[in-house]
Amino acid sequence: MTRIIFLPLNALAAIVLALTFTGCASHATQHEFQAMSDDEFADLKKSLLFTADDERYLRMSRDVLEPNVEELLDVWYGFVGSHPHLLASFSHPTSKQPDMDYLAKVRLRFRAWVLATADAEFDRDWLDHQLEIGLRHHRLEKNKTDGVVAAEHIPLRHLIALHYPITTTLKPFLARGGKTEAEVSGMYEAWRKAVLLTTILWSQPYVAPKDY
Ligand code: HEM
Repeated sequence: MTRIIFLPLNALAAIVLALTFTGCASHATQHEFQAMSDDEFADLKKSLLFTADDERYLRMSRDVLEPNVEELLDVWYGFVGSHPHLLASFSHPTSKQPDMDYLAKVRLRFRAWVLATADAEFDRDWLDHQLEIGLRHHRLEKNKTDGVVAAEHIPLRHLIALHYPITTTLKPFLARGGKTEAEVSGMYEAWRKAVLLTTILWSQPYVAPKDY
């Protein structure tokens, strides 16, 4: 009797497991990308003239930016919101209605990104996460984190272009911390490089691996 019950339960467990894995596989991203190695990252920082001084200036910027981060996000969101071709990324593909819940959820992750960039702990976890953020701008993973129906992909040209408005609007915020002119300039240069660095890392899923 025990055996008769035991076998079907085993079979049931096997089916549940199989279904779970199939379900996961349908959500998991199938992609061929691997975050760059430490050596490749070290070379990239050299190409960008990104040094330990930049890390120091980024860390200096944290205390300056943290009390102002919501206002900074208002400026960046205002920029995206005032350009229909950018707002389209947060909007339903056919109704064209912006998804306010999606905007709010991404804003929280944007906020975390500002502070993590200022922390400048550019280690293996951080490098792996940059590939993930790139995938989230790309059709491979866009919309999946929040389970939304919105534009399926952000074109690479806009990803790169946003480097300029994002960094240029940052400068007045860096000047709010009572630092010297040289320090504000140091923080600004470090942020310009850091946003370019992340944009380069995020562009990986857009490029054929052998070309990246
Ligand atoms: C330098 C350029 C850019 C920066 C620094 C930036 C920053 C970010 C950050 C930090 C996130 C959250 C990532 C996460 O999930 O942890 C994000 C997601 C997102 N960004 Fe950008 N972004 C840039 C360019 C763009 C452009 C050009 C658009 C188009 C309007 C855009 C639209 C989005 C959207 C829709 C998401 C949510 C993606 C998802 O579904 O998960 N971003 N961005």
